[in-house]
Amino acid sequence: MMSTHSALLQVRDLRVDIGERTVLQSVTMDVPKGELVVLMGANGSGKSTLGMALAGHPSYHVASGQALLGGTDLIPLEAHERARAGLFVSFQAPPDVPGVKNNLFIRTAINAVRQARGEDPQDAFDFLSGAKAAAKELGLPATMLSRPVNEGFSGGERKRNELLQLSLMKPKLAMLDEIDSGMDVDGVRAVVKLVERMRGEGTAFIIVSHYLQMIESLQPDRVLRLDAGRIVEEGDIELARGIARTGFKQHAAAAAAATVGA
Ligand SMILES: Nc1ncnc2c1ncn2[C@@H]1O[C@H](COP(=O)(O)OP(=O)(O)O)[C@@H](O)[C@H]1O
Ligand SMILES: [Mg+2]
Repeated sequence: MMSTHSALLQVRDLRVDIGERTVLQSVTMDVPKGELVVLMGANGSGKSTLGMALAGHPSYHVASGQALLGGTDLIPLEAHERARAGLFVSFQAPPDVPGVKNNLFIRTAINAVRQARGEDPQDAFDFLSGAKAAAKELGLPATMLSRPVNEGFSGGERKRNELLQLSLMKPKLAMLDEIDSGMDVDGVRAVVKLVERMRGEGTAFIIVSHYLQMIESLQPDRVLRLDAGRIVEEGDIELARGIARTGFKQHAAAAAAATVGA
């Protein structure tokens, strides 16, 4: 079912279990094309679980609810099919893939999504010139391309390598999970610049972050607060500022009191 009027990503009443435990109770959110949603929430509230469940990680079981991307139901699809449908989810802690060279890994991924879009595959030469330019923009030495994926990379280099994949894969929607953590000032600037450019080209974003200065620079359309597996608050940049000012605990107490008082 394709629809031109509904949001690019539609998450409806999504419940996610890890083993016996229900981690996401019920998550409902919309992200229209080109929009940027910041997702905040205390540690353990389920932010990364949402990313893993959307990406199709097999340990995260969708017990009920829906997630549609451009009208395509993601839930029955395997992780690689979700990527082909236009989804990109970065890891909070990107793992190493020993024995797999970064350039081969990224080129294979790009060509799989290009094929799904009906585009010609990139040959090694075109890939390398594009990848080198993107690496330069992200402050990642080109030598990282010929090393095994993330092996021996610093925390910030791993995050930059996630951004390199994002920039080359050109997804419809990207969820970036604490992409700023471990990154230096230049890295955070590179995030803002890349996100701004891709958003201008129509990519939608869900950005998980605790870092107010970056959130301000990203100029989000909306800010959501997740608590115990539910979206409990929705607002604009003021919500992020309020959380930064008082902390999650106090903010949640004040929000609950306001609801009771209403
Ligand atoms: N693979 C897993 N196995 C068991 N528990 C998990 C796993 N992943 C997440 N959890 C638990 O689910 C809850 C939500 O975690 P997470 O989504 O990582 O939170 P956040 O990203 O908001 O900090 C936490 O209590 C965490 O311990
Ligand atoms: Mg997390």
